[in-house]
Amino acid sequence: MIGRKVGIVGAGFVGATAAYSLTLLGTCHEVILYDLYPDIAKGKAIDMSQSTSYSPQGSIVTAAETLADMKDCDIVVITAGVPRKSDMTREDLLLINAKIIKDVVEGIVKYSPNAIIICVSNPLDVMTYVVHKLSGFEKHRVIGMAGALDASRMAYQINKKVGFGQGQTRAIVIGDHGQNMIPLPEISAVGGIPLGQLITNEDMEEIIEKTKEGGAEIVKYLGTSAYYAPGRAISIMVQAILDDSRIVVPSSAMLSGEYGYEDVTVGVPVVLGAKGIEQVIEIDLNDQLKEKFAKSVGSIKEGIKILEDNGFFDK
Ligand code: 2OP
Repeated sequence: MIGRKVGIVGAGFVGATAAYSLTLLGTCHEVILYDLYPDIAKGKAIDMSQSTSYSPQGSIVTAAETLADMKDCDIVVITAGVPRKSDMTREDLLLINAKIIKDVVEGIVKYSPNAIIICVSNPLDVMTYVVHKLSGFEKHRVIGMAGALDASRMAYQINKKVGFGQGQTRAIVIGDHGQNMIPLPEISAVGGIPLGQLITNEDMEEIIEKTKEGGAEIVKYLGTSAYYAPGRAISIMVQAILDDSRIVVPSSAMLSGEYGYEDVTVGVPVVLGAKGIEQVIEIDLNDQLKEKFAKSVGSIKEGIKILEDNGFFDK
């Protein structure tokens, strides 16, 4: 891939941190920030550009005034959307964010028709579905970022528990990016050593619960959602695609029969490379995990149904 041009829609904490991570690593030639508030995108782009004097590749960071200015991107990351406020129902949030995504996707299809889209907006799996449906892009070109983040949260819990292996821990989380997410300690490992040989079943249960609460724990302290780990989770996915590194990252992918489901986007292990999702890996799930996965898929389908019932996908 020659361009290495990445657009980021939404220059809030998550979008800006992803951009900063990419520029620090020198992953892209150019990062373009777009925000509904253009001054935010401009200010952060200038600040970040100045920081790139010391970056390995001296990435260029620019701001787009309109979606039309964010053109010919190789990858577009969507972080736009509002967080749920206390007076909003789940339904309100879904409809508000789906509408925001609709405008964004129209812009991407028009101005970056060959891009791979990484969706980060919440509720993650349902918004990834929305991006699939509205863009009409091949399914390998639309990927939801959640598993990369949830797995990093799980790795953190594992390292805290065992007391070693930071940076050497491979954790995996599948299912939705919500209450029904499924951390899989059974197939996680520290330095290649299966977790089951290092900790007790009780410890594993604790890790599962703490991983699920990983996002909420940070909100409790900050009063807002996390952004460093989400930003890094985005940049690892962008790197994998631009470098065609074909690493395995759990991501929200459109299923077409895998795991026995279709027409739903849910977190599963995928191979990330130049095409986006190069392959969905089907791991063996025992009956208990199959049941958990079914519950997770069910909760995503409920969200999709809310949008359908409100005529969101009608032409
Ligand atoms: C998180 O898990 C809100 O998706 C965001 O921190």
